[in-house]
Amino acid sequence: MDRRTLLCGLLALTACGTAAPTRRPGVGSARPGDRIAGLGDVPVGSGALVDVAGNGQLLLVRPSDAVVRAFNPACPHQGTTVNPPAAGAITCPTHRSTFDPASGAVLSGPSPRGLEEVPVVVSGGDVLLS
Ligand code: FES
Repeated sequence: MDRRTLLCGLLALTACGTAAPTRRPGVGSARPGDRIAGLGDVPVGSGALVDVAGNGQLLLVRPSDAVVRAFNPACPHQGTTVNPPAAGAITCPTHRSTFDPASGAVLSGPSPRGLEEVPVVVSGGDVLLS
């Protein structure tokens, strides 16, 4: 491969890199306003893991009837998918870090930080990305 061919290839890769869509953790290729679940899919006082367009996954938590919060379910320690809240905590099954369902903050365990919150809104009977 000569220098000219190599340079053209590098320029093409750079152009492709800048054109790639922005992806947020946990939401795959979904965009603001996309429906990610029905309100009825998320039990009050607990939560549910939901698949999102583009192979993402979110943990939805429903502390009260009209409030839903969403978190990237990848544990910040080593990436295991955490479980929906039970007995007042979200738990990682691998090394047992626990997280506050209201904020995603670490309660115990080796996780170096809390779960990343993803903004959502409840509109009618749907949970939408915001
Ligand atoms: S991967 Fe979650 S605590 Fe280690």
